[in-house]
Amino acid sequence: MNMFRVSRLVSMDKILVHGGRKLNGTVRISGSKNSALPILAAALLTRERCVIRGVPDLSDIHYMLTILSSLGCEVERASGTVIIKADKIRTEAPYELVRKMRASVCVLGPLLGREHEACVSLPGGCVIGDRPIDLHLRGFEALGAAVRVTGGNVKVLAPRLSGAKVNMGGKYGTTVLGTDNIMMAAVLAEGTTIIEDAAEEPEVVDLANFLNALGAKITGAGTCQITVEGVKELSGADYTVIPDRIEAGTMLVAGAITGGRVTVNHVRPDHLESVIEPLRAAGFTIETGERSITVSPNGGLRPLHLDTRPYPGFPTDMQAQMCALLVRAPGESVITDHIFPQRFMHVAELARMGAQIRLEAPTAFITGNGALSGAPVMASDLRASAALLLAGLQADGITEVNRVYHIDRGYEHIDDKLNDVGAHIERVKA
Ligand code: EPZ
Repeated sequence: MNMFRVSRLVSMDKILVHGGRKLNGTVRISGSKNSALPILAAALLTRERCVIRGVPDLSDIHYMLTILSSLGCEVERASGTVIIKADKIRTEAPYELVRKMRASVCVLGPLLGREHEACVSLPGGCVIGDRPIDLHLRGFEALGAAVRVTGGNVKVLAPRLSGAKVNMGGKYGTTVLGTDNIMMAAVLAEGTTIIEDAAEEPEVVDLANFLNALGAKITGAGTCQITVEGVKELSGADYTVIPDRIEAGTMLVAGAITGGRVTVNHVRPDHLESVIEPLRAAGFTIETGERSITVSPNGGLRPLHLDTRPYPGFPTDMQAQMCALLVRAPGESVITDHIFPQRFMHVAELARMGAQIRLEAPTAFITGNGALSGAPVMASDLRASAALLLAGLQADGITEVNRVYHIDRGYEHIDDKLNDVGAHIERVKA
């Protein structure tokens, strides 16, 4: 990791977005952050060499690679390719690393699966709401692990792991990383595990495909029931992660919000059906190719009623971006986040730019009005920050987005990519 990238991880840089410019052109989408993170963790399951391609250059990826190194993995990175060899590993992930990223929790499953023990600090909450892992822990217990929460750490221990029936359903639906964790803990267990109410996200399918490339026997990924037949050991693999559907959706909203014509390529259109449909309903033409999607205006912007749902429903990770788009849709739009009811940090900041949004969590009522005006705003979490950048693209004047490190967690060089299609975004050293 060169110093430049590391400096991006912690910088208090800000970005200045000069609004009012139409975007036109093609954006190449990077590999999926939410696919790469659990796949990198899954490399802990085998002593053999894993080559993982299409890994985006993001601070969250850097954190995961640092955690894997601290667990004893040999980690090499050359541009988008990561090589991991987990020959001799430790089973305790350090607090100061884990606390920075909730997704660190997905090292629990592979450590338990391979070493039958693990100790990881409990993930902190974050601005999008409480982030419990009770469903993960319930799943580990079903496989025969003893779970203890002590001193801010979660410790799991299993003299032996036996296949079992595990249900991943909770108050807010299923759990993506919980499904991942149980899948990874089960691949080396004795017997067969049935995961019910499993998450169906494409990133869960990608993890299952990677695990099968290692020699696991997983069927049903992408449906609500996943079957894992335990095997004795795993090999290495050379694997490429899927494209990032949320980055693609974010870039399509960027094109839509400026009234331009933007194509995203190196994508999986089939992963974006629940984003394409609302964009069409909001008044945009969407054309899909085999590996590309193009957005362009199709008459006036129309208000929407949107509900976030587990895949294949409309993704919570696109909720803030759609809020930014709908602030100018005449009439009233209603967006409800059923997955993270508190995930509305972007609302107060959008209001500073002139948006009219009434928040009665988990629902935002958006009264479409004229224009937004540029203002200094504060990024808070990854997708809220992206929404503020999108709002700045359509605002009159300059929008200053502070704490841009939130954006760098999940978007690879987003300012460069947008400037390449006509935006005017400056990254300013704080
Ligand atoms: C994954 O987080 C994604 N992160 C999130 O993307 C995404 O928003 C989320 O799935 C939902 O799609 C990664 O893949 C790294 P959950 P995850 O467990 O797995 C509750 C982004 O912006 N819950 O599916 O941690 C939970 O509180 C990030 O890229 C429990 O109650 O989310 C939430 O309300 C943000 N108990 C709901 O379930 C549990 O044990 C869904 O959470 C686990 C979760």
